[in-house]
Amino acid sequence: MEKITNIVSKPTLPPPHGGRLVNRLLEEEPEAYAHLPAVQLSERSYADLELIATGVYSPLEGFMGQADYQSVLEYLRLANGLPWSIPITLGVDPKTARGLRRARLVYRGETVGLLEVEEQYRPDKEAEAKKVYRTCDQAHPGVAALLASGEVYLAGPVWLFRLSRGDFPEHHYTPAETRALFAQKGWKTVVAFQTRNPIHRAHEYLHKVALELVDGLFLNPLVGQTKSDDVPATVRMQAYQVLLERYYPKERVLLGVYPAAMRYAGPREAILHAISRKNYGCTHFIVGRDHAGVGSYYGPYEAQEIFELFAPGEIGIEILKFEHTFHCRSCGTIVSRRTCPHGPEHHLLLSGTRVRELLRAGEALPLEFTRPEVAEVLRKAYQAQGGVGWKS
Ligand code: ADX
Repeated sequence: MEKITNIVSKPTLPPPHGGRLVNRLLEEEPEAYAHLPAVQLSERSYADLELIATGVYSPLEGFMGQADYQSVLEYLRLANGLPWSIPITLGVDPKTARGLRRARLVYRGETVGLLEVEEQYRPDKEAEAKKVYRTCDQAHPGVAALLASGEVYLAGPVWLFRLSRGDFPEHHYTPAETRALFAQKGWKTVVAFQTRNPIHRAHEYLHKVALELVDGLFLNPLVGQTKSDDVPATVRMQAYQVLLERYYPKERVLLGVYPAAMRYAGPREAILHAISRKNYGCTHFIVGRDHAGVGSYYGPYEAQEIFELFAPGEIGIEILKFEHTFHCRSCGTIVSRRTCPHGPEHHLLLSGTRVRELLRAGEALPLEFTRPEVAEVLRKAYQAQGGVGWKS
């Protein structure tokens, strides 16, 4: 009888969203396009350009036109019916937009891409904020970024000239590359983990529970723009590295960055995160408590519940849903309400704000919350910038 080694194994990695991995890299010199009018990209739009061009946002081939935009807002689908949750748009000021047909995309003084302007439209940003973020509150960092973007959306296919590997070149992979790597490693099932916070014991617990079920872990921290009090990506990357070095089976983990900006759109962003990870070739995606949340705009499990709006297989990546996990003194390990019989007085719960307070005060983080190696990376980083940054 054939030995059953892995009950969740599937024969192949999932096809990209929409069936084809988009590749909009242009092997040409940007100088040939110097005559075109320039459109300046913000950090977040540059990240979107890269994500489109490398296929992380497959099937998008450019910034969204109005039909897709409206459909995404109303129905959580592109106009062709494919699930999609967050408009990927390029806002510019009306003067830049006037009469524009073809443009050079410029980021930090360099021509990085091209845009064929097929359409221009003026969004109702308040309506967009209500749909995507469920609030118009400018204190919400996603809403603030939306309102700060240009009044006119330019839509159409894009090209990217040169793939910049960003600040973490040795951990930067395109979906074509991760797919090749997963195949090379012989992983038939791969769980992706999105994160924007320094790694803590509850994160590690989620990874390791998942690793009991699947072949590989794609640890995929978001390194694009985040709000000012989030711990910077460079510090987070150091923390992941020290932890992986000592506590993870090397041959079962790939650390690769996710270059997107954080939108803090909670449930809708969870869908975008899941689709992006499917495009990287992952079969499973972890969604825990308050995924991509900020403040108290979303319920703790809404980012899990939103997936129920889709028929099985439509998103095309299996969602591993986790309850809130934390350390229990009586159990002596990480638990959730599903596994622990003890009351709250046995539990160690630390908010991100409290963690930042402790770090600012130069105090040690409890070992039950953070591995000492990670605590040390965070402590040093806080001290190096005078303990004042990353306000809470
Ligand atoms: S996020 O904005 O990227 O979601 P974070 O890095 O804190 O923030 O979380 C990464 C993932 O781990 C998310 O899926 C989140 O829901 C999950 N998560 C984080 N902390 C916990 C926890 N204590 N219990 C359960 N899930 C958690």
